[in-house]
Amino acid sequence: MHPKQERQLVILVTGGAGFIGSHTCVALAEAGMQYLILDNFCNSRRSVLDRLARITGAAPAFIEGDVRDVALLQRLFSEHPISAVIHFAGLKAVGESVREPLRYYDNNVAGSLTLLQAMQAAEVRTLVFSSSATVYAESAVQPLREDFPLSATNPYGWSKFMVERMLADLDQAEPGQWRIARLRYFNPVGAHESGLIGEDPQDVPNNLSPYIAQVATGQREALSVYGNDYPTPDGTGVRDYIHVMDLAEGHVAALRYLQTHPGLLTVNLGTGRPASVLDMVRSFERASGRPIPYRIVARRPGDLAQYWADASLAEQLLGWRAQRDLDRMCADLWRWQSGAAQSA
Ligand code: NAD
Ligand code: WQD
Repeated sequence: MHPKQERQLVILVTGGAGFIGSHTCVALAEAGMQYLILDNFCNSRRSVLDRLARITGAAPAFIEGDVRDVALLQRLFSEHPISAVIHFAGLKAVGESVREPLRYYDNNVAGSLTLLQAMQAAEVRTLVFSSSATVYAESAVQPLREDFPLSATNPYGWSKFMVERMLADLDQAEPGQWRIARLRYFNPVGAHESGLIGEDPQDVPNNLSPYIAQVATGQREALSVYGNDYPTPDGTGVRDYIHVMDLAEGHVAALRYLQTHPGLLTVNLGTGRPASVLDMVRSFERASGRPIPYRIVARRPGDLAQYWADASLAEQLLGWRAQRDLDRMCADLWRWQSGAAQSA
């Protein structure tokens, strides 16, 4: 991408109506960057677009469609002055991926391949890719650094691993032509401070924080804590929870970095601050003023005891660091979950 005034940048945001994508659109707007959303709404609602308009003051440019639609992508790149792509579109439920591997490889791997081929044909070679800490092999050594060994234990994780590999091979085949950031997200939590957008799972939440939020509102009776016999400070699982707006701002920082750094960038986007399940429960009780009843149950198969990010490389290269703590994540999540702002 030739260095341009940021206001002229048009960023294609695939999956931009989703949880992280919608928050990243807010961050792009705040950075003065223009964006175009492509989403097929398989895991999001159209109402997100109206809420983005309320938050940013401008209706988002939007195309409904599938990232696997070759003809649509060709039209999209020929009709819009796209300078870069942030690729969020994909499926992300680990358990579902074990039951439906081909659906995950089709959407996440074939979808990414179709997008890359369309970018190559259109000579748009700046990409930010939604990778995941799930690509790291289990490690007794923590925190995780970007040069640690990679592996996966489920089709979802392998799909991220494969796309990371595709991107590395592409950079090697066309050295200096591409500007690619592989962003390895840890555990995104929270919501925009307006309470107008947030994580909106379409069925029973797999992840901890939306489940806790639904216990707080009475939608769920109690939290099942998957094991308290791990070798961790309080026996429950330890993760690196990062506010979704910090994550969003990390994407803007990555885009800015790519404007002056061709090649392949791989960074963790985490806080570097480990937190347990019970830490999250206590923080959410403070934020909501509501008790979160829980019961200890058996470990969830496939869960690791603990992992968190070494976040120093993103700070060193991008000048980005997560700013918001667990209490802020829970306060913003509660405002979204309690629906106060949504109903206003
Ligand atoms: P999400 O499901 O909220 O958002 C994904 C969006 O992509 C949805 O709006 C969905 O409708 C859309 N989509 C899916 N397949 C599509 C397709 N083929 N064509 C067009 N649109 C499509 O998920 P999210 O939490 O915002 O995650 C975004 C990305 O980040 C995903 O790639 C996910 O794997 C990755 N990621 C998420 C987490 C997490 O914990 N949320 C962690 C690490 C990485
Ligand atoms: C966090 C902690 C659970 C729910 C997953 C995906 C990963 C990435 C992020 C996409 C663990 C415990 C959870 C519950 C619980 N997604 N827990 N009761 O498993 O770290 O990561 O989301 O890339 O790929 O694997 O997140 O929120 O499911 O679990 O006790 O009802 O909370 O055991 O310790 P996880 P999570």
